[in-house]
This record gives sequence, structure tokens and C-alpha cells, in this order.
Amino acid sequence: MAFKAALIVLSDRAASGERADACIPVMKERLGEVYSIVRERVLPDDAGALQAEIIELADSRIADVVITSGGTGLSPRDRTPQATAAVIDYEVPGIAEAIRAASMEHVKSAMLSRALAGVRDRTLIINLPGNPKAVAESLDVVLPVLPHALELLADRVEDG
Ligand code: MTE
Repeated sequence: MAFKAALIVLSDRAASGERADACIPVMKERLGEVYSIVRERVLPDDAGALQAEIIELADSRIADVVITSGGTGLSPRDRTPQATAAVIDYEVPGIAEAIRAASMEHVKSAMLSRALAGVRDRTLIINLPGNPKAVAESLDVVLPVLPHALELLADRVEDG
């Protein structure tokens, strides 16, 4: 059974149509073969809108994994990590640590991303930075481990 993935971009400029989003195509290209894409959204950098999406996707079991892109930096409009933190049950720090560590090999500014990962109910939420290159580099780190993480959340891993 394919896992269900929801893709959310946080960008004022992409949401208003001022700039075309280039991150969802990269996510779909990397995930599309294995995951069933159940939702794609381009939202403004608005904490409330992201929180409502995550709550619905998790509590209605619409998505096994929610991948966000953007809004993880230091500007006042970057609110993705705070919004995510407010609606998760617990954090999975190793995912964000691994992404930042690997990304530092590409760009030192990777340390500026405050992205986090965590679980709400049985849904894993992973924040990624908001440019296509960062999305590709980050997914390369996460994707090999993602099926095991989602099996654990679904309680489908046998002991031993
Ligand atoms: N991580 C990777 N792998 N590649 C990148 O190019 N860009 C960084 C960082 N992480 C980057 C990266 C930059 S420049 C910033 S400001 C932060 O992510 C936050 O980006 P965001 O505000 O678009 O989320």
C-alpha cells in the first residue's frame, strides 16, 4: 500500500501569484513514484492556515506524511516551525538534525533553517526550506528512512 503524502508550500509571493512555486514540482518528482500525493497547497506565510491544514490532514487521517517547504528562516514572516510546533504531539529532532548536517555540506547557510519534524497522531510532519535545491537536497536525506518511520507510526513493524 502506498503511503499518502501531502505537500504544502509556505510563501507569500507564491500564494499571491507574484511568483510561480517551484518546490512542489521537485517534491512530486522525488515522491511521486512511491507515495500517493493526496494534497498540494500553496499557502501564505500564515501560521493559522498551516496549523489548520496539519490538524485536518492528521486528525482525519488524510496523510501519513506532510511535507512543508518554506518559512523556516529568520525573517518575521517565517513562521512554519512555530506553527508546526504548536500542533504536533512530539518532535522527532533527528530528522531536522540530519537534514541540517547534510545540507551544511552544500551551503553553510543551511544552519539558518529552523525547520523541525514531528508527529501529530499518526502523521509525520517534516519542514523543509523554501527553495527547490534545498528541497531536493533535504529529501535525499530523508527519503531512505521515511518508509520505516511511517511503518512505525502505522504500528506495522513486527518485533525482532
Ligand atoms: N538547505 C539546503 N540543503 N540548501 C539550501 O540552499 N538554504 C538555506 C537554508 N537551508 C538552503 C538550505 C537558507 S539560505 C535559508 S535562509 C534557510 O534554509 C531558510 O529557508 P526558508 O526561509 O526558505 O525556509
